[in-house]
Amino acid sequence: MKAIVYESNTGFTQKYAYMLSEKTGLPAYLLENAKDELDKGDEVFFLGWICSGKIRGYAKAAKLYSVEGVAAVGILSPDETTIPQLKQNNRISDIPLFYLQGGVAPERLSTIKRRILEMTARSLDKAVLKKEGDRKVINIIWNGGDFVRAENLTEILAFIGEKLRIPQQ
Ligand SMILES: Cc1cc2nc3c(=O)[nH]c(=O)nc-3n(C[C@H](O)[C@H](O)[C@H](O)COP(=O)(O)O)c2cc1C
Repeated sequence: MKAIVYESNTGFTQKYAYMLSEKTGLPAYLLENAKDELDKGDEVFFLGWICSGKIRGYAKAAKLYSVEGVAAVGILSPDETTIPQLKQNNRISDIPLFYLQGGVAPERLSTIKRRILEMTARSLDKAVLKKEGDRKVINIIWNGGDFVRAENLTEILAFIGEKLRIPQQ
């Protein structure tokens, strides 16, 4: 694996990408800039923020590089449906997909993106308000908050570590 490639709108995914870079020694590139540093087909780990169920940048990254693993950064607290749903929405079947909780920074969102996120929160309000964890998340969607934690990366670090131990051809 050569690099970490990421797509981030308000910086939470970037924070995770930088943490991974620091811990693995792999460089982290914003998808837009990665073409200056990488060759087509290079093996990468990709991180993208979730926008209405889609992992932003993944489709483009998968066309350009050999994506060996993906992390989707969202705001909802994950349950057993999260990974299968994300795999289906993003047509990921043959590589590992991880979920990370990011954050919300309302002041860094465009008006339109804030509206879409608030609509998501409203639909959740009805469906899942019973769960205490989701009540907290809804509050964060409205007021902002940061769930980025280094310890969330344990599984991904194990995965990348394994890849780096296998000699590259
Ligand atoms: C327009 C919009 C749609 C979103 N849709 C989802 C979603 O479907 N599922 C989810 O878990 N998070 C959703 N989020 C939350 C973001 O994925 C979350 O805030 C993420 O941490 C943003 O990362 P970034 O700072 O790297 O852009 C949405 C956010 C916005 C602004």
